[in-house]
Amino acid sequence: MNSVIIVAAGSGTRFGGGVPKQFLEIHGKPVIVHTLERFENCRAVDEIILVLSSREIENFQKTIGRYDLKKLVKIVAGGQTRAESVLNGLNAVNAETTEVVAVHDGARPLVSRSEIERTIEKARETGAACLAAKVTDTIKEVSGDKIVGTIDRSHLRRALTPQAFRFDVLRKAYAQNDAAGAATDECFLVEKSGYEITVVEGNARNIKITHPEDLKMAEFLFSELED
Ligand code: C5P
Repeated sequence: MNSVIIVAAGSGTRFGGGVPKQFLEIHGKPVIVHTLERFENCRAVDEIILVLSSREIENFQKTIGRYDLKKLVKIVAGGQTRAESVLNGLNAVNAETTEVVAVHDGARPLVSRSEIERTIEKARETGAACLAAKVTDTIKEVSGDKIVGTIDRSHLRRALTPQAFRFDVLRKAYAQNDAAGAATDECFLVEKSGYEITVVEGNARNIKITHPEDLKMAEFLFSELED
């Protein structure tokens, strides 16, 4: 069985405003519902665990009744950091039945079905897979306001989500790492545990809504979303 942990317990301080970004609406539907629907409609996904901030859970349970989300089996409270939120989700996964766990940012509603399926399939084959996009800008290393070097971008990738792992691989990576709180993605912990991760090519459209202008961009991209 394949389980997905969708983390949406962030406070969205970079976005600003009163309503956390995952509850803002795109075409009349909250961002987090769009994200959940992408996974709901994917055959490779058997169950979804949603991680929300404890103060949002009750409210969201009312909202969710309006949508047909059969695969959403649990909503659990998040932690102080993204890594803690993922760990809370991981603890809610059924260890007996789950072979592959995928982790996805709730703030990435533009993920495509193909990205989800290819990442889960690669994790099943190799144990660990990371959706990632090529870097199109030239990347400079700086010191203060001076350029000190140019990094060969052909070796660089932007890590997206989902990132998927065989359950035991992710479990072990969390168990072995005391500094998990500093991790901004799961691959960081799995890399540290010494496990090799395979890159799956992702689309630059799979943006994370972080700043207000990203919401406008997401609205535009939604009108042309492919499966
Ligand atoms: O902060 P960042 O943009 O990297 O967050 C990525 C995802 O992790 C977001 O969907 C956010 O809601 C989630 N998150 C979380 N718990 C936290 C911090 C972030 O679930 N404590």
